[in-house]
Amino acid sequence: MLTLLPLSLLSALLVGLTYPSSSGNGVNAVRLPFQVRTTNPFGSNSSSLSSLSRRSHSKRGPSSATIPVHNTHNAEYISNITLGGRQIPVLLDTGSSDLWVTGDVPNTTDLGKSVSLNYAVGNAHGNVHTADLTFAGYSVSDQAYLLVTDTSSFSMDIVSQGFEGLIGLGPNTGSTILDEVDNDSASSVLDRIFSQNSTSANYLTILLDRIGDTAENVTGTLTISEIAPGYEKISSMPKLSVDMVHKLTDADQHWQTYTDVNGVIGPDGQPIQIDSIVPSAPDNQLVVVFDSGYTLPQVPRAMSDAIYGRVPGAVYNEASEVWTVPCSQMINLTFKFGGMDYPIHPLDVSSSDFNMVDATGNPVCVGAFQPITSAFSLLGEYDIILGMAFMRNTYTLLDYGNWIKDSSIDQNDPFVQLLPLTDPTTAKNDFVKIRLSGVDSTGDAAHQLLPADQMQHSPFSAGEKKKMYAEKVLSRWPYILVGCLVFVLLMIGLITWRCCVWRKRRNAAKAKTAASMGISTGGLSKPEPAYPLEMQGTSSPVLAKTNYSMDDPYAYHDTKARDVV
Ligand SMILES: *[C@@H]1O[C@H](CO)[C@@H](O)[C@H](O)[C@H]1NC(C)=O
Ligand SMILES: *[C@@H]1O[C@H](CO)[C@@H](O)[C@H](O)[C@H]1NC(C)=O
Ligand SMILES: *[C@@H]1O[C@H](CO)[C@@H](O)[C@H](O)[C@H]1NC(C)=O
Ligand SMILES: *[C@@H]1O[C@H](CO)[C@@H](O)[C@H](O)[C@H]1NC(C)=O
Ligand SMILES: *[C@@H]1O[C@H](CO)[C@@H](O)[C@H](O)[C@H]1NC(C)=O
Ligand SMILES: *[C@@H]1O[C@H](CO)[C@@H](O)[C@H](O)[C@H]1NC(C)=O
Ligand SMILES: *[C@@H]1O[C@H](CO)[C@@H](O)[C@H](O)[C@H]1NC(C)=O
Repeated sequence: MLTLLPLSLLSALLVGLTYPSSSGNGVNAVRLPFQVRTTNPFGSNSSSLSSLSRRSHSKRGPSSATIPVHNTHNAEYISNITLGGRQIPVLLDTGSSDLWVTGDVPNTTDLGKSVSLNYAVGNAHGNVHTADLTFAGYSVSDQAYLLVTDTSSFSMDIVSQGFEGLIGLGPNTGSTILDEVDNDSASSVLDRIFSQNSTSANYLTILLDRIGDTAENVTGTLTISEIAPGYEKISSMPKLSVDMVHKLTDADQHWQTYTDVNGVIGPDGQPIQIDSIVPSAPDNQLVVVFDSGYTLPQVPRAMSDAIYGRVPGAVYNEASEVWTVPCSQMINLTFKFGGMDYPIHPLDVSSSDFNMVDATGNPVCVGAFQPITSAFSLLGEYDIILGMAFMRNTYTLLDYGNWIKDSSIDQNDPFVQLLPLTDPTTAKNDFVKIRLSGVDSTGDAAHQLLPADQMQHSPFSAGEKKKMYAEKVLSRWPYILVGCLVFVLLMIGLITWRCCVWRKRRNAAKAKTAASMGISTGGLSKPEPAYPLEMQGTSSPVLAKTNYSMDDPYAYHDTKARDVV
């Protein structure tokens, strides 16, 4: 009997790695009991898998900077690295920035620094090592990585899932290892590759295939500093500038950008209007993170409801925190970036990759655009995480630009380019063939969306509400900080000013006394009025109070103590 992998644990594990700041301190709920098949969900037909490996040997491409990406259950995308001479399959994660592997690594050097990566499911612990690395045809020496010796905390056998580590492809500022070692030599893999290989093309591209889609002919591919053959059109796609998080929290920086205004078009063809939680986001635009380490995209709950809540027969599964829908329902969904449409394949909007059944035991599909809960950004840095079910629909280019400090050539701002891969008409035919046995019943009365006023809503949990309140405060911390600073400065100013007034008054009083005694006090030939401020005639209550305290005989002697306050 095969053990069943709780996929949620994987997502949770990735959450832990990817969003350390928002997932620390055990605030993460572990998502249970999601279950996927551990065998190829599409039976013995692994043609799409073998075609991937075949491509690696065919070398039709221009260079070894183009490598195959292996797809496990549409839930994990994996490529090989060579570390210390050993070939290791690692999960590709654009949402984090560290490299970790398990098992033996030859020719490795232990730096003696231990690092803990926080998982929602436990704590993975290991020492930072360095070893020579080759990735996508590029080699770096002494790459820093975390050698995880104890994998028991993973709650699953990652090796049986086809990987023995994870490579973070996010910005260097997010690297925990770099933070710990505190030496540029411990930078992330891509940072090292681009730094040593000065190029104006500081980019990585990634192309994810879809298992179970017989019509698709995408081959999972990753490239560095070059475009996958056949996808050159990506160069003409809009450059989406990366939305930068605050400098002080840039460990949380991700590959993130804004949608267009009203940039998510729901199943009824109308925009889904949701307010961003990001304080700096322009009206009607949302901040999305591109994260290849996330199986299911995470969207605001109201958006998930808008996508699935009007589907006849939709049921919200509270235990798994997903909508389930009849697999025969085609659901349209389109994202808009830089004026371009990015339609989502209906096979990705509702996924058959999970063995879910309804109350009567009939198979149901999972609403892949899941309400965001554990990955909710408490600092209010993003609204949506676009994981694999989104990224299968685009050929994605991530340009690191001036994130690479040592690269003298490309000092432009980082950006993202997306080439849409899903044609709605082709995708619909595909869906009809695969889910509807070739009979187009998408227009049937049974498949019409419910009227908007009959839309179902999924329940907010108490914890979720708390997080949303916390976010409202935490996301505004720069403003709150500035507010506090201004307040402190005002107080200091006020106190200083009071002291000046007192000194002036005392000096004036002294001068007056001296003058009346016929003694010259320096250059002060004409004594100042004793109460210059009172003479301004201001009615400010603060001043009034000041004047009042000035009459306090102890005030003069007290100024030192007051300065401290
Ligand atoms: C395997 O997939 C191919 C197309 O990719 C299809 O022609 C063939 O019938 C499938 N075989 C099985 C056993 O499903
Ligand atoms: C990784 O390397 C192994 C062993 O050489 C090979 O069997 C596998 O196909 C490779 N995987 C990928 C995604 O290239
Ligand atoms: C790495 O280790 C392998 C096997 O342990 C050995 O054959 C090889 O010479 C080593 N390479 C280096 C550069 O030390
Ligand atoms: C950083 O690492 C490099 C290479 O390991 C080493 O030569 C250098 O001395 C280190 N710098 C600091 C400040 O530790
Ligand atoms: C740098 O990139 C060029 C072109 O891709 C390649 O020929 C060269 O080997 C690379 N250098 C290193 C050190 O990887
Ligand atoms: C598959 O690839 C070929 C060659 O790249 C292309 O001509 C064809 O349109 C593709 N088919 C689909 C369904 O995308
Ligand atoms: C969904 O998309 C298909 C394919 O583009 C289109 O034919 C259909 O009218 C769309 N449905 C709605 C409700 O917009």
